[in-house]
Amino acid sequence: MKSTFSNPKPLHAAIIMDGNGRWAAARGWPRTAGHRAGADALRRTVEAAPSLGVSMLTLYAFSSDNWKRPSAEVGALMNLLQTYLHKETSRCVENGVRIGFLGRRDRLSLSICAAIESAENATAGGDRLHVRIAVDYSARDAILDAATRLRAAGEINRENFARALAGGRDGPRAAEVDLLIRTGGEQRLSDFLLWECAYAELYFTPVMWPEFGAADLEAAVSEYYRRERRFGGLALEPAAS
Ligand code: IPE
Ligand code: IPE
Ligand code: MG
Repeated sequence: MKSTFSNPKPLHAAIIMDGNGRWAAARGWPRTAGHRAGADALRRTVEAAPSLGVSMLTLYAFSSDNWKRPSAEVGALMNLLQTYLHKETSRCVENGVRIGFLGRRDRLSLSICAAIESAENATAGGDRLHVRIAVDYSARDAILDAATRLRAAGEINRENFARALAGGRDGPRAAEVDLLIRTGGEQRLSDFLLWECAYAELYFTPVMWPEFGAADLEAAVSEYYRRERRFGGLALEPAAS
């Protein structure tokens, strides 16, 4: 499908998928019911993104601070991730969606790590949309990690640092976020993509993540195109007539 937006530059959108627990509690349901409904919202969002001109979608699924939650909730979230990957990988392959992950893997179970690797390998050829799921992710830890590796390896400058943050020395730079969306009504970053969001347009919506869908993503992208990004410079002069 052709993009709804005619702007030629594909977008990197990042989403803090928040509000699952409150959405479930408001219905008298356990928090895990909210997480299950959240997995459906994830599916809808991934499906809608390419036609809205989004080529990279980075999704916050589990923060390093989320380990503080009760072990039953953590276990349910990990099971959902595994089920999501098992169910969705073949659909992603069919739809040209590449799946990748951000965050630490050393605290994840072997079966989650295996599911992650298998999804990454199976979808490596996808070139329509790059979905990156952040699991056991902390931006501050990612920054410290990159700085530690760079200190041992050579000169620290923005360019090298951005490559180190993406995990390599000569590879791509960490992808700058164009549009950061947070659902659930809170207006904070909660340790997500702190470097990459330096000039991101921030979009906060009261919609709880389980209710988020294509129309909400479209509203966020439309709002993005109404904003003027100046990067510290001046507004563009209107073209002389
Ligand atoms: C987001 O929803 C999912 C995760 C953080 C894993 P929450 O579980 O934080 O839901 P609320 O914010 O408590 O409603
Ligand atoms: C951020 O949400 C993490 C994810 C959405 C995965 P939280 O619910 O954990 O953030 P805080 O605690 O409200 O800042
Ligand atoms: Mg929350």
